[in-house]
Amino acid sequence: MSTHAAVLTGLGGYLPPRTVTNEELSDRLDTSDEWIRKRTGIRQRHVVDPGVATGDLAVEAGHRALKSAGAQGWNAVDMVVVATTTPDHPLPGTAPNVAARLGLGPVAALDVQAGCSGFVYALATATAALAAGHAEGVLVIGAEVFSNVLNPADRTTAVIFGDGAGAIVLRAGDRDEPGAVLGVDLGSDGTGLELATIPGGGARQRASGRQPRPDEGYVQMNGKEIFLQAVRRMAASSSAVLGKVGWSVDQIDHVVGHQANLRILHSLAQQLGVDKRRVVSHIESAGNTSAASIPLALADAAARSRFRPHDRLLLTAFGAGLTWGSAALTWPQTTLV
Ligand code: COA
Repeated sequence: MSTHAAVLTGLGGYLPPRTVTNEELSDRLDTSDEWIRKRTGIRQRHVVDPGVATGDLAVEAGHRALKSAGAQGWNAVDMVVVATTTPDHPLPGTAPNVAARLGLGPVAALDVQAGCSGFVYALATATAALAAGHAEGVLVIGAEVFSNVLNPADRTTAVIFGDGAGAIVLRAGDRDEPGAVLGVDLGSDGTGLELATIPGGGARQRASGRQPRPDEGYVQMNGKEIFLQAVRRMAASSSAVLGKVGWSVDQIDHVVGHQANLRILHSLAQQLGVDKRRVVSHIESAGNTSAASIPLALADAAARSRFRPHDRLLLTAFGAGLTWGSAALTWPQTTLV
């Protein structure tokens, strides 16, 4: 087996300064702080000010991750992957402009669209490029201005999602180094397309020949079904990646799941047989930031010194598509945040 692996060398998160509390949402929607906290674990979410787009958040998080990577940052990164559901434009992708604004020069740059699983898919893209020798250093960013696609009148989505960006830097290295990404599992089930979708604005809607209704530009989801599928798919994908890297459940130090709902994270822990105390969460203060949620949770936990060198981390995500994915990695020797 090849000894090559992608190794984590940089990490950064960025949340826009403005917060929206549950109380503020309760003023304009038929909901309450108590309902939102009890059913989702969310207390507040961050929302951009007018004029701020996904690329702006991606640049902030990317800058922090490159800075934290030190010598492995600006000089070593030759590829940028941005995972987002809320790109700056339908064309071009968000990544080339982010790379240019970060001063990275003529590097490879592409977007990955896999809903809330986007960060794990982008991580897999980066590790594959490093293993194949197509890149020597990759900046992987998850960034969202999800508030753009929320129907202000829909209480089921408006209370959950928030804006933010998180980023990591990976370099080519060896499997036995702390910080190595040791395995990835990815999957999809496109028959679940309708469970979470923005129906308007794409080729399918234009091909229908009719004008989109205003609400078709907003995310629509079947929360109950997504909840059940998220737990089932993340648990199966987690088991698959653990099998690939030969770790038992007891050997996992931290589960960093997509931050969709605290009850989903706790149900996942129960299904896997992992103690809830090993579940990493920042959902209380940031809500569901879609493709940004895993790197933001990593940055938040790292800033609290929660991870120690050589700790074993399981990342797992589920999102629209339907898509899911998991990754197993160890924590690096250096302090990243
Ligand atoms: N405030 C108050 N009541 C609400 C509410 C809100 N924000 N949202 C829904 N309700 C109501 C429902 O209308 C329903 O009322 P009823 O019993 O009178 O019909 C009741 O609460 C229960 O609704 P239900 O949908 O069963 O709630 P839930 O416990 O499943 O929680 C979600 C709803 C959306 C929070 C939850 O399903 C969820 O998190 N799903 C996953 C979403 C996700 O991960 N999305 C991202 C990946 S694409």
